[in-house]
Amino acid sequence: MEAHAVNPWVAVAYLVAGVCFILALRGLSSPATSRAGNRYGMFGMAIAVVTTLITHEIASLPEIMGAIAIGGGIGFVIARRIQMTAMPQLVAAFHSLVGLAAVLVAVAAFLNPDAFGILGADGNILNVSRVEMALGAAIGAITFSGSVIAFAKLNGNMSGSPILLPARHVINLGTLVLILALTAMFAVAAHAGPGESPLFWAIVALSFAIGFLLIIPIGGADMPVVVSMLNSYSGWAAAAMGFTLHNTAMIVTGALVGSSGAILSYIMCKAMNRSFISVIAGGFGADAGSAGGGEAREQRPWKRGSSEDAAFLMKEAENVIIIPGYGMAVAQAQHALREMSDLLKEHGVNVKYAIHPVAGRMPGHMNVLLAEASVPYDEVFELEDINSEFAQADVAFIIGANDVVNPAARTDKTSPIYGMPVFDVDKAKTIFFIKRSMGGQGYAGVDNDVFYMDQTMMLLSDAKKMVEEINKSLTD
Ligand code: TAP
Repeated sequence: MEAHAVNPWVAVAYLVAGVCFILALRGLSSPATSRAGNRYGMFGMAIAVVTTLITHEIASLPEIMGAIAIGGGIGFVIARRIQMTAMPQLVAAFHSLVGLAAVLVAVAAFLNPDAFGILGADGNILNVSRVEMALGAAIGAITFSGSVIAFAKLNGNMSGSPILLPARHVINLGTLVLILALTAMFAVAAHAGPGESPLFWAIVALSFAIGFLLIIPIGGADMPVVVSMLNSYSGWAAAAMGFTLHNTAMIVTGALVGSSGAILSYIMCKAMNRSFISVIAGGFGADAGSAGGGEAREQRPWKRGSSEDAAFLMKEAENVIIIPGYGMAVAQAQHALREMSDLLKEHGVNVKYAIHPVAGRMPGHMNVLLAEASVPYDEVFELEDINSEFAQADVAFIIGANDVVNPAARTDKTSPIYGMPVFDVDKAKTIFFIKRSMGGQGYAGVDNDVFYMDQTMMLLSDAKKMVEEINKSLTD
């Protein structure tokens, strides 16, 4: 194991890696610079991994290479096969592995502290190392079991509705306090040689249980925030592991992941008008069909439009704002959509895309799809930058979005999306609303008044098929 005095070259290499990670985060903050950000991240990680391999005698090189080949091979196959729509559960599954790795490192250090350079002269594990390994194991175990439940809920293996235990807040708070008390007792225990103290195992077991208990009360609608929060936890678990392994790169990287995940969770809470505490406390997420308004659907009149109507009106328009949502991802309509805006631009129409922070099923979902279709970045606008322009828009073209354009979020206090900032599409002169049926709902499972507005024409079809038909009409 590495001596505690760090080789200056190693320190420099880790510093460069850390700077690359910060540049990566900076790059990822805008679609235009995200590719460069990704490259910085990969470069920084390559420096960190190579430096660690050269300087640490943690295992033989063939063992490490074998593990990288197996893990990398599995990751490669999964990444190629995964559907974009299943990305949130894949992210949850990967976080569970980071959590488990943290637990396993802590267990290895607990059983063989000498190999980690943390065994004191008295035959006990150093006190400070006991705190590090207990925290690493606890955060790792919470991340693991929490992520497994998040995966099961997102993947449909478990109901997305909240499971509310009686007195859950007392149970959860009591368990967390107990974990902290056991950590303090473990830190000062008289007998804490290799594998000696049962307190360590009690901390691990309770942490697995609390991860499970914390996530089961959280409903489907709040799951994206949970995944981002677990991402943050996995970063803190990695940072704690870095202390146990005396690896500064891991501490820095873990802290960056931990804090950026926490910031993302906060941004998402704001976008969905949820308080962070209420999400963590659980039980506030809505399951499909839980909200009011749906009963009236059949009785209310609505207008059906056609691809020809849409082509004709948009060709004549001055300003068209496109609002993509989850349905665009399902239909993979982004390429046809890009073609449509190219055709409209040839007719002198000013086309903009409006992206809601929680449109789709993961942060940046729409941006990734539009970038894949080479939509110019300067045509893509965030909610707060474009919302005031709907009043001047001739057409709001809603393609597979629903909750993010639902005015109930502004007006209906009983709605599960009440308080979420939404696009003011109702201010546009004409609204085209693409979805497959009047029956299908958005993620929150609520009816949408926009369907029934005077200026709305429903284009009921698969999004890609409808846009292709519009394109045909535009070229005829
Ligand atoms: P949603 O409200 O989920 O609405 C999706 C719409 O797409 C539905 O109206 C659906 O109606 C339609 N659709 C589905 N497949 C289609 C297809 N092939 N062709 C045409 N239309 C199709 O979408 P949104 O407006 O993007 O809102 C996102 C929601 O997901 C929010 O409530 C948000 O809180 C939640 N959420 C977000 C995230 C993140 S981080 N983005 C993660 C998890 C959950 P039909 O079935 O009738 O076609």
